[in-house]
Amino acid sequence: MSGESFLRFPENFLWGTATSPTQVEGHIENEWTDFTASDGGNCRIACDHYHRYPEDIGWMQKLGTNAYRFGLEWSRLQSAPFAPLNQTELARYLDLLDRLRAAGITPMVVLHHFSNPSWINAGGGWTNAATIPAFVDFVRQLVAALKDRVHLWNTFNEPDTYACVAYLLGGFPPQQKWKLGQFRKVIEHMARAHVQASRVIRREGIAAGRKPKVGIAKNWTFFHAHQRFSPWDRTTAFACHYTFNKFVLDAFLGGWRRRASTFIGLNYYGRVRFHHFRAMIPASGAPVKTLKDFGFVCDDMVERYPAGLEKILPYLQRKFHLPIYITEHGSASADENFRERDLRQNLSALHRAIQSGADVRGFFYWSLLDNFEWQFGYSKKFGLLAVDFANEHLPRSMKPLAAVYAEISRHNGISA
Ligand code: FCB
Repeated sequence: MSGESFLRFPENFLWGTATSPTQVEGHIENEWTDFTASDGGNCRIACDHYHRYPEDIGWMQKLGTNAYRFGLEWSRLQSAPFAPLNQTELARYLDLLDRLRAAGITPMVVLHHFSNPSWINAGGGWTNAATIPAFVDFVRQLVAALKDRVHLWNTFNEPDTYACVAYLLGGFPPQQKWKLGQFRKVIEHMARAHVQASRVIRREGIAAGRKPKVGIAKNWTFFHAHQRFSPWDRTTAFACHYTFNKFVLDAFLGGWRRRASTFIGLNYYGRVRFHHFRAMIPASGAPVKTLKDFGFVCDDMVERYPAGLEKILPYLQRKFHLPIYITEHGSASADENFRERDLRQNLSALHRAIQSGADVRGFFYWSLLDNFEWQFGYSKKFGLLAVDFANEHLPRSMKPLAAVYAEISRHNGISA
């Protein structure tokens, strides 16, 4: 596997997969338990990763991956603010971590991924500043329990998406709409919690002389106007960029807060273009035919924009001078050829960005498994592995893209 057309990634590069508790574990008690998605599905069983994680680690090995990004579900681990951790649930996560270690798979642990315990939501969730010390206490206890096993910590997954979809678009619980004040509060409180939690992780997470790494995962979406000369669509695109990208990055990483993080996690899927105020993407219900007529290349969610990686990575590198992990990237489609093309294009763009100086340390494919995709339920197929949800045993099987990814991770690169 060498030659001119082979794009080799840096030594020790992490090739991983990613999941989140609500989307794969099942048997969870949080605000999603009673939520019914647009396809009628719910997360009560999901992929039953809660019981099947040993098997799923076996699949990760078949994929040749050396890293796994997953969440620890707060609602399982604490029953009230400042309560001690539930030892049975903790033991289960410890077992998962031990099995990962035995399989040679580096864990990246996510502490908040779109879900909260009911007692946090009852108090107003992240709109209430009292959530900050409760979360930091949870993190302190976890770090004490896991510091020998975990060295890569992701505090918040996509705070921008969470605050936007829960408080502006009404798609996630508590399903509120156009509450800009709440959106801002959630971001500000999460940013303060990130700074405090990071201090705890960096101070108390040192084990055997090994310094922990900590950062958020920021979703970066490019917002553009379909017609460059439409002032209204340009204004809409700018307002979205300002609110979801600039405001959020400044809150978490601006000024002195930048010192809280040792890396930046980037979740990158693509872009949204506006036409007559409308977001022209499948996830917002834009008709597939119109998108085709416009010449937009989309998966089942957003417009694909591999070239964007060559813009955002150098920008983050220049601005923050921190190592970067691509904490999520993937596509949802029934067309595996499309997904393979898309992955190759994005990884080629990533490779070019690295060649030009971006310090990227790893890539986590979203997702290991087809899973519960929040408000869309099981209709969006992001998995490298298919799950047969109609069969009570939830059998997994490799999709064609899984073989492609296995090849990439085993050879630490792609043939272009
Ligand atoms: C990201 C989320 C993840 C999943 C993917 C498709 O925004 O972090 O849980 O929904 O998108």
